[in-house]
Amino acid sequence: MATIRRDIGAGHHFIFDDSLVSQPNEDMFTPHFWHLENKVTGQAKGRGTTIFIEHEHQHWVLRHYIRGGLVGKLLSDQYVFLGVERSRPFEEFRLLAHMRDKGLRVPAPVAARIHRRGVIYRGDLITQTIPNSHDLHRMLCEKPLNESDWQNVGKALAEMHNCQVYHHDANIRNIMMDDKRDIWLIDFDRCHFRSGDKWKKENLARLLRSLHKEKAKNPVFHWQIEQWQSCIDGYNAVSNTAV
Ligand SMILES: Nc1ncnc2c1ncn2[C@@H]1O[C@H](COP(=O)(O)OP(=O)(O)O)[C@@H](O)[C@H]1O
Ligand SMILES: [Mg+2]
Repeated sequence: MATIRRDIGAGHHFIFDDSLVSQPNEDMFTPHFWHLENKVTGQAKGRGTTIFIEHEHQHWVLRHYIRGGLVGKLLSDQYVFLGVERSRPFEEFRLLAHMRDKGLRVPAPVAARIHRRGVIYRGDLITQTIPNSHDLHRMLCEKPLNESDWQNVGKALAEMHNCQVYHHDANIRNIMMDDKRDIWLIDFDRCHFRSGDKWKKENLARLLRSLHKEKAKNPVFHWQIEQWQSCIDGYNAVSNTAV
């Protein structure tokens, strides 16, 4: 595989894995196109619209970058342009490619694009679908994870931290488990490399807060605080730095 960047003029910039896509175009980043082709297999309700696509035996997830919070209400999908490589889709694509090279279980990046108009841009990212997986929010609403599952969650986070990657949104909707019970991390928008170790503990605390929050919110939620220790044990087993 090779990562190729293509700047085709009129503010259009693409980045893609040439073993998965031969020629990126506007259409492949447009949900409407995939709907017309009858290739949409599902969608996820997150901040924005994430659709699942089946195309020539490939399974892809297409996400449009959407802002959350107050700014999002005004500029829902527009970002200030600071350079192609500093755009969110390009940064997430390159970060995923890097972590894949390091052997982490994160989705393979397929293609990303931005469309710049003056000082703003809009962007989209396509990744490979993690086969037969569900996010932990959905799993925990159905049944509990066992001790070794929780250790594996901790291990996955430690492997990410060992690469000095900080997860901006470390919550259970961004952690997936497949049918082999392998743990995967997703949603690396705004994630980046960070030096040092002090932030790692805080990054784990963010996940713990999300578990407490979901437990309070969902009538049935199969998680107890006692299980947190397994996660920490798994983390410490592979981490460069104990927390
Ligand atoms: N590569 C993937 N494979 C399988 N499911 C995914 C993948 N990426 C996202 N999902 C599902 O879609 C949901 C939303 O996607 P995500 O990338 O987290 O976007 P956001 O949180 O910004 O809406 C996730 O919680 C997960 O359930
Ligand atoms: Mg998410």
